[in-house]
Amino acid sequence: MKILGINYLSESSISYMDDGILKFSISEERINRIKNWYGNPLKSISILLDKYKINLEDIDFIATHGIVVDKKKKVDFSQYKKKIKLIKSSYLSPTKKNYLIKQLNFRKKKEIYAINRAHKLINELKKKYKKKIYIYDHHECHAATAAFFSGWNDTYVLTADGWGDGYSSKLFKFNNNKFYLKRSSSILDSLGYFYGSITKLLGFKPHRHEGKVLGLAAYGNPNKAYDDISKMISFDIKKKNFLSHPENGLYLPLFHNHNLKDLLKRYSKEDIASATQKRLEDVVLDYINSINSKSINISLAGGVFSNVKLNQKIRELKKVKDIFIFPNMGDGGLSVGACCLCQNQFKKLKSRKLNNYYLGFAYSDNEIIQEIKNFNLSYKKSGNLISSVAKELNKGKIVAVFQGKSEFGPRSLGNRSILVSAINSKINISLNKKLGRTEFMPFAPITLDKEAKNMYLNYNKGKYSSRFMTATYNCTKKMKKLSPAAVHVDDTARPQIISKQQNLVIYKILENYFKISKIPNLINTSFNMHEEPIVNSPKDAIKSFLRSRIDYLFIEGFLIKR
Ligand SMILES: [Fe+2]
Repeated sequence: MKILGINYLSESSISYMDDGILKFSISEERINRIKNWYGNPLKSISILLDKYKINLEDIDFIATHGIVVDKKKKVDFSQYKKKIKLIKSSYLSPTKKNYLIKQLNFRKKKEIYAINRAHKLINELKKKYKKKIYIYDHHECHAATAAFFSGWNDTYVLTADGWGDGYSSKLFKFNNNKFYLKRSSSILDSLGYFYGSITKLLGFKPHRHEGKVLGLAAYGNPNKAYDDISKMISFDIKKKNFLSHPENGLYLPLFHNHNLKDLLKRYSKEDIASATQKRLEDVVLDYINSINSKSINISLAGGVFSNVKLNQKIRELKKVKDIFIFPNMGDGGLSVGACCLCQNQFKKLKSRKLNNYYLGFAYSDNEIIQEIKNFNLSYKKSGNLISSVAKELNKGKIVAVFQGKSEFGPRSLGNRSILVSAINSKINISLNKKLGRTEFMPFAPITLDKEAKNMYLNYNKGKYSSRFMTATYNCTKKMKKLSPAAVHVDDTARPQIISKQQNLVIYKILENYFKISKIPNLINTSFNMHEEPIVNSPKDAIKSFLRSRIDYLFIEGFLIKR
């Protein structure tokens, strides 16, 4: 059974599943080179069919998300009525009430616009590929990515994002390939909109720079602005759900929230970020603690769980036995989720661990050589180049690595990565400069699996997830001493723990580096220039290498020196 999964929302993507095995996934932005591009990923589809010699007729199903377009399943707008009732019964002045109700009606209009747009895009797919499109619920697609790759037959699955298909969060019990819906939160009680509104308030791009708020949070005092930030969203103990407050929690389209402006006059950006992060953690931890079960495995997906610090806090909860976060937790992952649900609808799909997360395109040696020639560059191919790379890293040189299939999602896990020593904290400033980036968080480390327990506290919990850089860990004294450049001011790091099986080339580079330096960590950051998508093809890689001030490009075993 061959399934093509499609996501047409932000970070639009495709996935290809053959008899329950995920064979291929890529985001359209990697191909068209426009960050966070959305729409139907037609270029990726045509390259997939061409490169893998798949006939469209051989694809049994096309699957996507967006059940709100189904006229039989009417969109539930009752949440707007409920919020208006809440505003009317509040202590607010009549002028303020009218203003807020106007905002809400505007938000509703925007939601209707988004539903019509989804309708249009799905119809476009139907017409172009002349096939029936199987449409699934947005949050169930997120949940499917987390559950079917957790390796557990029995797990709670929590999804949380801005909004999708009329909701901003859902909690499921997943048992023997069935999902049982336990709770859901309306789009007006959205954690994603809560965090996004603050991202916008602090002058960053919402739905894109939430990581900067998280980085900034470590520099602030979480308590100073906490009371004010808490007026935006809380955990409703009675309904066991997220609840935005009438006055400050009405999240307008595009993350505008005029009610927040005053905060900037009273608090520093760092303190606002810090209180926001704390509020997010408190609300989500209360939610999870209210699950009526003593000890649980929890699987997470949805954009909110790109927050690596939140994921750490969840992992550390007493009642959480183990945790799994799908590596492409945002809407990019929906194409995978749609494939899983479609497969599971027709033939039972087993939950299994993701052993291979390199799901994009690979390129042959001939294609690489041709591209090197096109740019008139010279290269080394013979000798022990892995050992040479390790020696250069030990000298403080920066090496970009390009090999095999690309990773799917926001993190580079060694196939489209930039490596550099983490000995000197100043590298964060100089590397950011060389790549044209601004970040408040240090670069993330890559660590040899056999040394992980000496670098991170309580490393054994959440071990499987640590392969994908989806959560932070508290660092040991040794880690802070050996690799300070990869440790944040709050003593945490967001590592990728690497094994031989996961990525042999990177493992060998790191092992060689360890032998010379006695340090089992290197910085691993994504191979891209500022605000550009991660490189996809050899051409993208060479272009970025030449534009940046990286010292070496190690591309499929060919070593190019600047
Ligand atoms: Fe989503």
